[in-house]
Amino acid sequence: MIGRKNGRVSPLLLVLLALGIFFVTYNLLIMIISNRTGGGDSLDTSFSRSDPITQMPEDFKTTGNGKLLFHVALTATDAPYSKWQCRIMYYWYKKVKEMPESEMGGFTRVLHSGNPDNLMDEIPTFVVDPLPEGLDRGYIVLNRPWAFVQWLEKATIEEEYILMAEPDHVFVNPLPNLARGGYPAAFPFFYIKPAEHANVIRKFYPEDMGPVTNVDPIGNSPVIIKKSTLEKIAPTWMNVSLSMKDDPETDKAFGWVLEMYAYAVASALHGVQHTLRKDFMLQPPWDLEVGKKFIIHYTYGCDYSLKGELTYGKIGEWRFDKRSYLRGPPPRNLSLPPPGVPESVVTLVTRVNEATANIPGWDNVNQDKER
Ligand SMILES: *[C@@H]1O[C@H](CO)[C@@H](O)[C@H](O)[C@H]1NC(C)=O
Ligand SMILES: *[C@@H]1O[C@H](CO)[C@@H](O)[C@H](O)[C@H]1NC(C)=O
Repeated sequence: MIGRKNGRVSPLLLVLLALGIFFVTYNLLIMIISNRTGGGDSLDTSFSRSDPITQMPEDFKTTGNGKLLFHVALTATDAPYSKWQCRIMYYWYKKVKEMPESEMGGFTRVLHSGNPDNLMDEIPTFVVDPLPEGLDRGYIVLNRPWAFVQWLEKATIEEEYILMAEPDHVFVNPLPNLARGGYPAAFPFFYIKPAEHANVIRKFYPEDMGPVTNVDPIGNSPVIIKKSTLEKIAPTWMNVSLSMKDDPETDKAFGWVLEMYAYAVASALHGVQHTLRKDFMLQPPWDLEVGKKFIIHYTYGCDYSLKGELTYGKIGEWRFDKRSYLRGPPPRNLSLPPPGVPESVVTLVTRVNEATANIPGWDNVNQDKER
């Protein structure tokens, strides 16, 4: 990023950044207004001219085989911890993408650490800038909205829809475009409770916008959303994230899920509501079976006794926890869980093993001498 000297952020840069956001928002606003009046020249013209309720134009936008493709966008850093997860994620994307029910299109790792890394040849990657040093206040995920703003502005994306994904996602079933039918689709998180934080939410979502329940119980991922809608939301999401982080009461109330609330609020500010899809994702060890769900999210540690009893929060005799591998990848061929452990956990470890067994150079490329 221009202007970053000696690790300090110049005030000028902050002003430039603010102006940048302003112009992005301004241009989008102009685009939206001109679309509304029917004179739009953007990709979205056919949509905005039509009656949003009938959803007709989507039929024309599908590929020859009737598919309504979405692009998979994976935000990531160049840390070893992020890299090994991305490699497994991309492996499973490639496998399920070809299955008949899939509406998965292209894939991009949106790398927000500012420089190419050693996975550029393995995974399609678009490098964007991190926030200027200091602006993320040590909260690295604040870089996500800024990454999306830059990527949407600079990259050429063929698909009309985007899936926002994360490195600790493993596809277990071919994912259709859950946003088919007009609304973006999101996974409802049990711990995102806008109504219980009405006082804090109101600082960013004023009363005249509507009830606090307009703010969906979601984060930005997983979400499948129309590209044109995300282009509107992303700059606001970034702004709201930074404002929330700057407000001590909000920062304290939301903690590590602040940027999720920021996305939920930003989308509500644009009048966007999501279809809540519980089958979008499952989270071992709490969800026991994969069934027809689409993504395994392995954010929670899975700890079990050798009798197959969950010992959550206590290191298990058998365990799989991504945080055991902060500095480098897990070894190939992890031991499978003991009998009695839920199918979701068995599937997760089996899928990790399959990926690591088949990714060339799993244990050397990733040793990561550069860092
Ligand atoms: C950014 O957020 C602040 C506070 O939430 C708001 O006052 C301001 O208008 C926003 N600016 C943009 C460009 O969205
Ligand atoms: C994987 O580990 C198991 C023991 O946990 C062993 O029996 C098996 O041979 C290993 N497979 C490979 C391919 O290394």
